[in-house]
Amino acid sequence: MRLFMDTANIDEIRRGAALGVVDGVTTNPSLLAKEGVEYRDRVLEIASVVDGPISAECISTELGPLLAEARRVAAWHDSVVVKIPMGEVGLQAIKRLSAEGIRVNTTLIFSANQALLAAKAGAAYVSPFVGRLNDGGQDGLAVIRESVEIFENYDLDCEVLAASIRGARDVTECALAGSHVATLPSAVLFQMMGHPL
Ligand code: G3P
Repeated sequence: MRLFMDTANIDEIRRGAALGVVDGVTTNPSLLAKEGVEYRDRVLEIASVVDGPISAECISTELGPLLAEARRVAAWHDSVVVKIPMGEVGLQAIKRLSAEGIRVNTTLIFSANQALLAAKAGAAYVSPFVGRLNDGGQDGLAVIRESVEIFENYDLDCEVLAASIRGARDVTECALAGSHVATLPSAVLFQMMGHPL
């Protein structure tokens, strides 16, 4: 399973990258807001530290502006994967952008059916929110497991990227469920190295 860091903090990313086990980074506007830097500048800084996909999220809600934003963000760096929220507009955008060769990470995935639609539209990744599903009393891991199985059944060229990971045990369970990738808050990655005993 590949491991991404779910942060925009460059010091944490440097520390993680030095471990040699970080395969990529995911960011979002909330993570960027904590840093007080320009989104593009930080993505380029991350790209100089981590050699792997870097998800950068688009926030436009109408199709035309969303396509324009995604094309602009994708042009920042070859490593950029644009993050598009699941939904009617999102799906249309994924179809168009993937046809142009722009890699898309579909965010806000809460069901295996949403994952199936995003994969059919051409997304490179789908990001089920494991922690938020569990918070609401649902089974986040079931969405991971079902999405992986569906993609295998139909040989869909899309990877399941477990997001909204809250603790080290979530990582183990996502790995057992066959998730292709998990994106981890820095604290979870660093916690995985140790043990109280
Ligand atoms: O990247 C988005 C996702 O990982 C959010 O996690 O903990 O805010 O649900 P969380």
